[in-house]
Amino acid sequence: MSLVRSIFRLILLNWRRFVVPLTAVVVVGLLGAAAFFFWPHGLPEVAASPEQPQRDELIAKGKYLTIAADCEACHTTPGGEAFVGGLAFKLPFGTMYSPNITPDPETGIGTWSDAEFVRAVRSGVGKHGEDLYPAFPYTSYALLSTDDILAIRAYLKTLRPIKYTPPENDLLFPFNQRYVMRSWKLLFVPWGQYHNDPAKSEAWNKGAYLVEALAHCGECHTPRGLMFQREQGKALSGGAVDGWIAWNITSDKASGIGSWSDEEIADYLSRGHAQGRGPAAAAMRQAIELSLSKLTKADIGAITTYLRDVPAQSASYGTPTTASVVPAAQASEPWNPHDSKESEGERIFEGACASCHGWDGSGQNTTRASLTGSHSIKDPTATNLLRIILDGSSDGVGTPTTAMPGFADAFSDAEIAALANYVTEHFDGRKGTVTPRDVAKARSP
Ligand code: HEC
Ligand code: HEC
Ligand code: HEC
Repeated sequence: MSLVRSIFRLILLNWRRFVVPLTAVVVVGLLGAAAFFFWPHGLPEVAASPEQPQRDELIAKGKYLTIAADCEACHTTPGGEAFVGGLAFKLPFGTMYSPNITPDPETGIGTWSDAEFVRAVRSGVGKHGEDLYPAFPYTSYALLSTDDILAIRAYLKTLRPIKYTPPENDLLFPFNQRYVMRSWKLLFVPWGQYHNDPAKSEAWNKGAYLVEALAHCGECHTPRGLMFQREQGKALSGGAVDGWIAWNITSDKASGIGSWSDEEIADYLSRGHAQGRGPAAAAMRQAIELSLSKLTKADIGAITTYLRDVPAQSASYGTPTTASVVPAAQASEPWNPHDSKESEGERIFEGACASCHGWDGSGQNTTRASLTGSHSIKDPTATNLLRIILDGSSDGVGTPTTAMPGFADAFSDAEIAALANYVTEHFDGRKGTVTPRDVAKARSP
């Protein structure tokens, strides 16, 4: 009895603290019920507009859009056949695998109707009405026009059908229950396609369509809330992917890309490297390799126009410091093997890093390895710096020539901490603060 009484007392004394969670539970419950009635699970009417091109022109249009949407990135395993799926998505509650989207009738989407395809891409619903998980970024693709989705469909139909069934998902209860997604979708999937803003230029609207819908930049660069939803109030102010930070790309001058020139943005997005801004590694490198590097100059220009106009927000992960606390090391100073003051970090850099990056960070064999100005080195949390040292980076499609190997197995936590702090001090003139514990944590993000 006294327990019940004390619980009541607790609630009465702290009622304010319970109002929000209780309301949230009630609202989510009601929405869930509503979702069953209102979510458009029926098949939509689909028809292309009179402007849709025909035959070869349609296939070419669809191919370009498929590249811009980067469908291949998630539906291909490293070194595997494109579009057959099987790529693992490791989530906190289990592992899921992307499906085969080649036109194979048994294991792919060969027997899907156009209407089923449009419904999947726009509303995250599978062939048999089942709810799909938002690892498939339909939260962005919902904004695509019907013509564009049908063009992608037309292109995918021309691929070679490949028989392959990806592994079964292995997700914990209740996340393995697909209907759980339904109220989530009601809350977080945009309703309706992208509409041009007549007050803005054509390039701005093209850029908005690319950034928000097709190239789905926000899926990585927008922070996520407790329910894994993108926090649209903080859109593009920085997010997390596989333990890496996807930096703030709003027009903020201190932590975003407000101080980058148009040319730097274009270089970074189309070549994966901008002089004085460092290289694009990990997921960003892959997005560039498979998708952004193949876009037209006009489209990259449109993306830049739009990004310039995204209101400045400070980074969701904190602002990189620009103040130097120690004088920047003379980067081009010749290294003296007999220098007794050589630190452990310096010794490791010499053996493992200098051959590719050079002592001045200018890059030895490829401009990709030019580190100067890289956000990863300026970031006081050293998140991406530790990630690249541990995991390395490649294009994910098996081109080894410009890859950086991972060093997770080569060095201890203490050695990697010393190396990271040396890199920070040497290239950014700041005292690094990485501890061996930080490295241990980064090993299992
Ligand atoms: C960020 C990763 C990602 C991208 C990009 C992506 N997909 Fe997917 N897609 C997935 C995952 C994961 C699933 C499985 C979802 C599930 O099982 O609930 C999926 C499911 C699908 C399905 C349902 C297939 C089935 O058998 O149920 C189709 C169709 C599809 N994707 C097509 C596309 C197309 C077309 C594009 C590009 C416009 C694309 N995907 C881009 C990750 C992605
Ligand atoms: C699959 C996830 C993903 C997608 C999609 C993605 N990015 Fe990124 N982006 C990242 C990650 C991770 C980094 C950090 C890479 C690094 O530190 O080397 C990054 C870095 C960047 C940077 C460098 C910022 C800086 O301060 O150094 C820019 C600019 C950028 N992305 C723009 C874009 C744009 C524009 C799009 C859409 C057209 C986009 N990204 C789509 C994950 C992504
Ligand atoms: C075999 C050549 C090679 C070696 C060895 C190498 N790197 Fe790299 N590194 C690269 C390349 C290439 C890139 C660009 C990554 C990309 O394009 O995906 C890179 C990128 C980086 C970045 C930038 C990451 C970003 O997100 O901006 C840092 C920091 C870095 N390397 C540090 C190191 C350190 C520290 C070592 C030594 C442990 C090292 N590298 C060893 C080739 C190398």
